[in-house]
Amino acid sequence: MKVEDLLCLAKKSIHTDQAKLLLATIINLNPLELNIHLNDIVEMELVDKYINCLNNLEQGIPLQYALKETNFYGFNFYVDERVLIPRFETEELVFETNKLINKVFFNKKELNVLDLGCGSGCIGITLKKINPSLNITLSDISESALEVASLNAKRLNVAVNILKSDLFSNLNQKYDVIISNPPYIGKNEEVAEIVLKNEPHLALYANLNGLEFYDKILKSCEKYLNDKYILAFEIGFRQKKAVLELIEKYLKDVLVFTKKDMAGRDRMVFILKNINITE
Ligand SMILES: C[S@@+](CC[C@H](N)C(=O)[O-])C[C@H]1O[C@@H](n2cnc3c(N)ncnc32)[C@H](O)[C@@H]1O
Repeated sequence: MKVEDLLCLAKKSIHTDQAKLLLATIINLNPLELNIHLNDIVEMELVDKYINCLNNLEQGIPLQYALKETNFYGFNFYVDERVLIPRFETEELVFETNKLINKVFFNKKELNVLDLGCGSGCIGITLKKINPSLNITLSDISESALEVASLNAKRLNVAVNILKSDLFSNLNQKYDVIISNPPYIGKNEEVAEIVLKNEPHLALYANLNGLEFYDKILKSCEKYLNDKYILAFEIGFRQKKAVLELIEKYLKDVLVFTKKDMAGRDRMVFILKNINITE
């Protein structure tokens, strides 16, 4: 079948932009180039894959799960229903944290970094790709998420430690950096139907109006951190004040700052101990 016919086929059920993205990914083209390939013939095997994905999309399955892949920070991650689909804000958390690591630990060789609640592994694996000398540990309570993280470590050819742990329960070393995008949606918050129906609730929801994991992590993190550390969180855009209060409750003598995402929302919190940011 031709590219043009395949796009027409999709028009009945999904938005043309989504169909273009789907087809372009499957035939390995840039979606913007599709218009000059409208008469290209697509192999039958790829047509079948496309039609199968279309059916999934029609049933309300997110594009990334239908394709079983997503781009994160320029890397191609495998994703399916076992893990949260990595989000753009999280790329910003990785970018900012890596900048900070390079700035404050520039003279330290062996840096141990924990990606707590790793899901697909997008945070820790990306850090390892862009900063290969880091020793990265990925941990999650979900065994099925860890299967995906392990698959991604192989797919992207990085050596990382992968551990099953309910927060810190199974961790027995100290880290220089802990980075986490924990579940932070309150039980009563409204969530888009496509998210609610497809993504793992274990990755989304937290008690205490979404603050449970910040509370638990902040309460015990110092047992798992070296004297000089960076703790980096992604937060919900309405949670800045509450998270800052928790930091004040549990941590002493730390430098704290927040950053907004590209949409101008407060989405990242950084906590530094025994670090002078100008050093
Ligand atoms: C919001 S998702 C983030 C996944 C991934 N880091 C990302 O940014 O796309 C939160 C992750 O925390 C994990 N999680 C939930 N409760 C946990 C717990 N008690 N201990 C460790 N991980 C937990 C979930 O399984 C999920 O993978």
